[in-house]
Amino acid sequence: MSEKLRVDKLLAHAGYGTRSEIKKAVKQGRVLVNEQKIKDSGIIVNPAVDIVAFDGEIVSYRSVIYIMLNKPQGVISATEDGRERTVIDLLDPEDVLLKPFPVGRLDKDTTGLLLLTNDGQLAHELLSPKKHVDKTYEACVLGKVTVEDQLAFEQGVTLDDGYVTRPAKLTILSHEEREDDVISWIRLTITEGKFHQVKRMFQSVGKKVLTLNRISMGSLELDPALALGHYRELTDEEVELLKQHRAK
Ligand code: URA
Repeated sequence: MSEKLRVDKLLAHAGYGTRSEIKKAVKQGRVLVNEQKIKDSGIIVNPAVDIVAFDGEIVSYRSVIYIMLNKPQGVISATEDGRERTVIDLLDPEDVLLKPFPVGRLDKDTTGLLLLTNDGQLAHELLSPKKHVDKTYEACVLGKVTVEDQLAFEQGVTLDDGYVTRPAKLTILSHEEREDDVISWIRLTITEGKFHQVKRMFQSVGKKVLTLNRISMGSLELDPALALGHYRELTDEEVELLKQHRAK
């Protein structure tokens, strides 16, 4: 459902210029609402019913945005930060207009799937501790991950602050000898999102996560065609599936 809003705001969100540029365009008679030239850039329109045209072109407007980002290392999962580069800095200016924000956080050195949206309701429900949304990661771990670790993760491990994790599914993908060490490649699905959770779970069994990459969140899977630092909008089907999850 679309909300009513000022026509200059609608045009600014749709990428037709700044509010003052739009005001000027309105004065020049370049903006029509329902085929009538308007004089006031502050008039209220309903994008669901009103037809807005700019220089003869019908403006297509939507108020929500859903972005899948393959987060690279070195950027933080925030909308702004005085010192560090954020995931928002990776977006093109026109994709920032609707003010998307990251749904949850990946650590600065974690890569992979990050959903960015301005749909506060969906974000809230995907992050709700009550919803137990699955999050799957692939990691490279220093040490030999064992069947005992799989059982421990299945039963719940105790983190450094005493918190006992919910059952998690650990799959061992492969082991590799590196100099005097063994490195393990694993996949892990957790249903909660405590601070540094995956790293702390491995710490609890005496191992260290070397690299961490998220490959899915709920029904949403990282598109393998997206290189690190690249992003795309979700398809209607992906949005629908995520919303179905939220209803559960
Ligand atoms: N667990 C972590 O330790 N780090 C992340 O970025 C995500 C999950």
